[in-house]
Amino acid sequence: MNLKEYVAGRLAGITPLEKNDILGLLALPPTDDMGDLAFPCFALAKTFRKAPPMIAAELAASYAPDEWVEKAEAVGGYLNFYFKREAVAKSVISDVLSKGKAYGTDTLGENKTVLVEYSSPNIAKPFHVGHLYSTAVGNALANIYEALGYNVQRLNHLGDWGTQFGKLICAYKRWGDKETIEKDPINELLKIYVRFHNEAEEDPALEDEARHYFKLLEEGDEEATALWTWFREVSLREFKSTYDRLGIAFDSYNGEAFYGDKMAAVVDELKEKDLLVESEGAQIVDLSDEGLPPCLLLKSDGATIYATRDVTAALYRKQHYDFYKNIYVVGLPQSLHFKQIFAVLKKMGYDCADDCVHVGFGTVKLSDGKLSTRGGKVVLLEDVLKESVARTEAKIREAGIVTEDVEEISEKIGVGAVLYAFLHNSREKDIVFSWEDMLDFEGESAPYVQYSYARGKSILRRAEESGKLPESFCVTDEEYALIKALDGLNAAIRDSAEKNEPFVVNRYVTNLARCFNKFYNTSSILKEEGDVRAFRLALCEAACIGIQNALGLLGIQTVEQM
Ligand code: ARG
Repeated sequence: MNLKEYVAGRLAGITPLEKNDILGLLALPPTDDMGDLAFPCFALAKTFRKAPPMIAAELAASYAPDEWVEKAEAVGGYLNFYFKREAVAKSVISDVLSKGKAYGTDTLGENKTVLVEYSSPNIAKPFHVGHLYSTAVGNALANIYEALGYNVQRLNHLGDWGTQFGKLICAYKRWGDKETIEKDPINELLKIYVRFHNEAEEDPALEDEARHYFKLLEEGDEEATALWTWFREVSLREFKSTYDRLGIAFDSYNGEAFYGDKMAAVVDELKEKDLLVESEGAQIVDLSDEGLPPCLLLKSDGATIYATRDVTAALYRKQHYDFYKNIYVVGLPQSLHFKQIFAVLKKMGYDCADDCVHVGFGTVKLSDGKLSTRGGKVVLLEDVLKESVARTEAKIREAGIVTEDVEEISEKIGVGAVLYAFLHNSREKDIVFSWEDMLDFEGESAPYVQYSYARGKSILRRAEESGKLPESFCVTDEEYALIKALDGLNAAIRDSAEKNEPFVVNRYVTNLARCFNKFYNTSSILKEEGDVRAFRLALCEAACIGIQNALGLLGIQTVEQM
């Protein structure tokens, strides 16, 4: 039951305003004790030629209570509505219980196709926390769009092409060992890659050799292609085991290489449309009328680059998926790159440029030096997950509450804690990584929310019977706050998608857990009997469903006990 709609409909009957205008005016009162909904009467002052408080008083007198509204009260220039708590409780709880896992979803998206490109690590390079930021945000957004009834395609635009593969082939042929690499692919490939750079400083001829190998690769040479394919396979195997841990899967792993044979046609089209101009031997698209620096598409030796592949990829995606939206979850340092890509598409005459969105995010900062591992600058995702899970396990063992499946539970909480930390604030903000905050079981953290869920499930297990709403019951303030929070899931999902900001759902579920804990601390459940017990059990069950569904959107799993 959408009570805002309902009240707007009734108000339209007793004021000269249209229902839609009223909907725009109705707002939440500043505090809970001021009712459930407030209508500001200022917009009517002109029409009625009266002061707003007087209009509010008159409207209050003419709004007769009904099956949903207990009373309408004038406070200053506002008309405050108090709903019948029992009626709201029945409507919300039965909705949650009947929809279950589908609670919160809707069909707004009408199955239109939304592409979410995220993660996109580079072959033979470490999967670092920046890629995790993209992975966490992208996966959450994909889930959120899916919940709204869009046909979501999850794309992983792997960095699997470019001159670095010439270097890697060269390095492998000189110093590589197949068996060592098979055992620890990315690490070992990185080692020989770094060695290439060091040795090339002494011996510049190596660079020529690398260029030669990349050329062979571009020409489809058998040996070079076989090596490249193998580098890609072993790297992807490693990435996939991380994705498995995070519960993430993709519909496509078409990376940069996929567009290799599709670029020539795009370059021809750019030429035909007179968009390519020469600049210092290279071919660029002038974007000065957009206030942007030129977009370089062909190097002076005719080689294509990252941008050429992105223009090609966008056009391929339009043709292949006919997307409604094409979302790129990539760090903010690439903002200019995407502005240029979209501007080039626009110049080519493709309106789909307007449906391409760069969803950027900030950087990850470390509060304790410990996270910077292996003497290097990058922080590896695997190390972060490992440490989070280890710390969680130590905490759980110390508390001694959980005795079975400690490892499995620690994995879900430890991984959840990391994902939560990446989805906690507006994505453009930088993250300061802190283990204390991340694993604070009482603070704003995944473990806090997961713990609330586990508490609820433990009550339901002990109760044995499942909650069935009784005919009549009373609703306390804390219970009512929880019911209202539950009611807001769909609105949070919609808001989150509109802004492409998963933190909206994160804040939502944190508040829901907080409301649940207040309810849990003020209402006894198992000690009660009859209707009170039945109502509270039903509410407990509904709260668990709400928490689980919202956490699921963030890619965070629940545990049944902790
Ligand atoms: N592989 C790139 C990186 O690690 C990210 C790719 C972003 N996506 C794109 N369509 N350009 O920085």
